[in-house]
Amino acid sequence: MTTIAASRTVVVSARGGARWQAGHPWIYRTDIYDEPRDEPGIVAVTDRRSRHLGQALYSPRSEIRLRLLTRGREPVNAGWWGERIAAAAGRRAGLAATAFRVVHAEGDGLPSLVVDRYGPYVVAQLLSAGVEQRRDDVVAGIRSALAPAGVLLRNDVAIRRHEGLPLEVTLASGEVPEVVEVMEDGVKYLAAPWTGQKTGAFLDQRENRRLVAAHAGAGSALDLFTYHGSFALHLARRAATVTAVDSSGDALARGADNAALNGLTNITWREANAFDLLRELDRRDESFDTIVLDPPAFAKTKESVPRALAGYKEINLRAMRLLAPGGVLFTCSCSYHVGRAVFGAMLVDAARDAGRRLELLAQSGAGRDHPELLNVPETGYLKGALLRAVD
Ligand SMILES: C[S@@+](CC[C@H](N)C(=O)[O-])C[C@H]1O[C@@H](n2cnc3c(N)ncnc32)[C@H](O)[C@@H]1O
Repeated sequence: MTTIAASRTVVVSARGGARWQAGHPWIYRTDIYDEPRDEPGIVAVTDRRSRHLGQALYSPRSEIRLRLLTRGREPVNAGWWGERIAAAAGRRAGLAATAFRVVHAEGDGLPSLVVDRYGPYVVAQLLSAGVEQRRDDVVAGIRSALAPAGVLLRNDVAIRRHEGLPLEVTLASGEVPEVVEVMEDGVKYLAAPWTGQKTGAFLDQRENRRLVAAHAGAGSALDLFTYHGSFALHLARRAATVTAVDSSGDALARGADNAALNGLTNITWREANAFDLLRELDRRDESFDTIVLDPPAFAKTKESVPRALAGYKEINLRAMRLLAPGGVLFTCSCSYHVGRAVFGAMLVDAARDAGRRLELLAQSGAGRDHPELLNVPETGYLKGALLRAVD
């Protein structure tokens, strides 16, 4: 059977077309000149002179109305998705991990689609009404490109509400177990695809975990916001003792299982509020040779940035005070709304107030399986800094 290309058309303003020309795949409601306003799905897009601009995912209820898929007129069917997903998988060749992101949505030219691999299983997220409407084709594409033992849809992400979509977790094909054992740079860990945060693990920090492990001291280490021990497991191979802290008891329980899986006995797991614990450690004049700060996104909106910065400054200032001379701090923010420059300025401020001189050893972002496009700032949200206390 031959599938034809999109039959419905959306007409956009010159400004809308210019966004695609500038390399950004989104066109907003305010740049739509004419639209069907019916079902979401895939539409042809033209300018007001009926010149073809491409085909896009269409979300009739979202401020982001169009997400560019292709400038061509070819049918966007299961085969099309399969080819694009296979190409993205090819770009990940050589990663030293069995869990990684295969498709980073806009970063891989497949807007609003996330595909993560956990060993033989796939966990995907369909984040727009347009891609949700093509669910069967997308799942068929994933299956043909990656041949997984199962595909789980972790569609319980709040941004789906902007698209008028329900939040749900659905098994789309095969089977996916509650926990999956995966490997990262020689460290084994259990990911939780059904119930864990994100799609089951924080895959974006993989290369930062390697960076920190390479600089970790042989003494004591503190991993704050550890989740299931992701940084702690790597640190425990070098440091004498590691304290791993999180507010989630479930994540810590899996962390303890992860330690056992790797035969590591030098990690202490503490369920605590990191803000309170930092205050307590500071009061007790404790010190650590290595500290990791990987908090959740404090700024979910532009409006919350000032308050978020106060939070980032507080934990960084205290962590800097806790660093032993020559100690290393890896600190990061995954708030998209806190840009790299603002994050850097906050660190300078914190260092001054902490009375510490710090050498900037490295700046980093997400791993290479989370490609960041210059033209699409939304693809880059994670920023990290590796600092060493000079004295
Ligand atoms: C970005 S994730 C950490 C990811 C982890 N470092 C990794 O590489 O897998 C943030 C973590 O902070 C925890 N968390 C959130 N608020 C917290 C708080 N106030 N104190 C301690 N942990 C907190 C969450 O449970 C979550 O596991």
